[in-house]
Amino acid sequence: MAAKILQQFGGDWTEQKLAALKKYLTAYITILSKYPFRTAYIDAFAGTGYRESQDSHEFGPLFPELAETESQKYLAGSARIALQIQPPFTKYIFIEQNLQRSQELFALPAEFPELAERIEIINSDCNAWLQDRCLNFDWSKNRAVLFLDPFGMQVEWTTMEAIAKTQAIDVLILFPLGVAVNRLLRKDGEIEDGWRNRLNILFGTSDWYSAFYKEIEESNLFDSSHKVRKKTATLKSISDYYVERLSTIFAAVADRPRALCNSRNNPLFHLCFAAGNPKGADTAVKIAQHILES
Ligand SMILES: C[S@@+](CC[C@H](N)C(=O)[O-])C[C@H]1O[C@@H](n2cnc3c(N)ncnc32)[C@H](O)[C@@H]1O
Repeated sequence: MAAKILQQFGGDWTEQKLAALKKYLTAYITILSKYPFRTAYIDAFAGTGYRESQDSHEFGPLFPELAETESQKYLAGSARIALQIQPPFTKYIFIEQNLQRSQELFALPAEFPELAERIEIINSDCNAWLQDRCLNFDWSKNRAVLFLDPFGMQVEWTTMEAIAKTQAIDVLILFPLGVAVNRLLRKDGEIEDGWRNRLNILFGTSDWYSAFYKEIEESNLFDSSHKVRKKTATLKSISDYYVERLSTIFAAVADRPRALCNSRNNPLFHLCFAAGNPKGADTAVKIAQHILES
């Protein structure tokens, strides 16, 4: 184990993200274990099971915050944290698209032998896998917590819709507010088609454009006025927009996400929470909101 060197990225915000995950999973399984449901923890961006480098970040040097290496440590990532929680879940599903990283996850059954039979490792794009599992599985006797921890804008809205449809899955999701979305929303509104399309896929609509930009009347030196397109969106209004979108499909949503900030206090992600089952949604959101704010 000693030979392995992995980069810890992000420092405090990574700690905060994983601490919130651990607290929610602990509260969730403590309550759910009193009910006759099968429970699953689904980690759709599982990585290696250890905190890992941001080398494959889709935006590369465009977003240098994520490349900050504050120390090189060998610390548990979300998958290992979930496996340590007691009482255990009925099932653990770890999805990782990168082949090499997914192979590292195969160390987990040996490390947690009492849970080995419960662990499933999937080397796939999580959007395709989740859409299939959510729409083609009987969820009536099953409940799950899903952790969506992408580097950037990898979570598609159609995936969120499929998850919400199950009415059985609670979701903790990192919304890539500062790391991607706000940067793509240029001040002059001139967004190239490729990025526009990515934003449409993330938000599940193209309406974001009219929510974030306005035509404003401006007069020049010669007193003739003309219209100029301006970005009116703020970090808060962009985040509120996504939370509002989530609330159109989930039973309930925490309306105050947690800002995960870099060392210069710029928000990279907002950690959001949505509850799937209408019966348990209010309790779930109350617990999650408290965790997000603590
Ligand atoms: C931020 S890291 C996950 C860190 C992990 N949750 C932890 O706490 O250790 C994101 C991971 O998602 C993987 N990934 C990127 N796109 C993916 C996709 N579409 N489906 C599944 N995994 C993906 C990357 O290879 C990377 O390992």
